[in-house]
Amino acid sequence: MKCRVCKGAAVIDVRRHNANFCAEHFIAHCHEQVRRTIDHFSMMQPDDRVLVAVSGGKDSLALWDILLSLGYRADGLYLGLGIGDYSTESTHYSRDFADRVKGRLVEIDLLADEGFDIPTGARLARRAPCSACGLSKRHLFNRAALEGGYDVVCTGHNLDDEAAVLLGNVLRWNVEYLGRQHPVLDARPGFVRKVKPLVRLAEREMAAYCVLRGIDYQVEECPMAAGNRHIGYKEALDGIEAGSPGTKAAFFHEFLDKASHLFTPESDVVREGLLACASCGSPTTGEVCAFCRLVERATASSSNMSVPVQLGETRS
Ligand code: AMP
Ligand code: FES
Ligand code: ZN
Ligand code: ZN
Repeated sequence: MKCRVCKGAAVIDVRRHNANFCAEHFIAHCHEQVRRTIDHFSMMQPDDRVLVAVSGGKDSLALWDILLSLGYRADGLYLGLGIGDYSTESTHYSRDFADRVKGRLVEIDLLADEGFDIPTGARLARRAPCSACGLSKRHLFNRAALEGGYDVVCTGHNLDDEAAVLLGNVLRWNVEYLGRQHPVLDARPGFVRKVKPLVRLAEREMAAYCVLRGIDYQVEECPMAAGNRHIGYKEALDGIEAGSPGTKAAFFHEFLDKASHLFTPESDVVREGLLACASCGSPTTGEVCAFCRLVERATASSSNMSVPVQLGETRS
């Protein structure tokens, strides 16, 4: 197996590109894929102040590393979710990487700062943990970016993540979600721009990138996500990809090119009438925003719970 670029010994094959790479040229390939993605979707400008949401996992640490290598002014943002050993280890990997690159890591701790953690708060609020977690991430990433004066928030969603979410949305024809499934969500009043620069890179490639760059990361998946539908969709797509390399990338990127514009996000129409949340001031359709309602329920004692349950599948 020879490197496509230098013909030296290759360490990885990327079947959908029909290419093998040595370590040096694989790392260069990953940088180039992200550079092209940022360029293609006009995700950010060279002098933007960038906040990378890091979970301690391979994707987000690789993303931070790549953005720094490309010369961006990128700080990290870590949100402590209070999910037992999983969160303790995630904190450790995020801080270690920040030390290594001498980067600034903004930290928020759900329990210390908001009064609840995901396992207990979700139970008290009678929400699925991943739903409470996704809502908290969306709200707190945005708030941290606004408070810190950042131009853009980046997350480490990769090609496998986005293709699996797309498959789930297509299988159920969630047209509103389909309309919003884009690697760039533009800034609006009260909302910072959000981008996903890893959408051309697969999960396996991000793991290889971290190994080759010597980046230690949290290997365990979140215990609260075990058995969720998203994992099944990923496995189904992996099965198809194995027999037909390139299908996953085509499914997602051809959707963006050819079909995503057909799904007008209904929520954008609703958003025109946004008010300021009575509690935190964020734009919201109701009097109090969804996150402040979650905080209220998640920090209430279980005896005075009489609020309606809101279950749903949300992805940050
Ligand atoms: P997930 O929702 O766990 O698939 O994570 C998707 C992306 O969200 C990651 O690649 C990170 O960019 C970000 N993220 C997830 N968990 C955290 C966290 N605890 N703190 C900061 N960012 C996170
Ligand atoms: Fe959010 Fe697992 S990371 S519930
Ligand atoms: Zn090479
Ligand atoms: Zn609020």
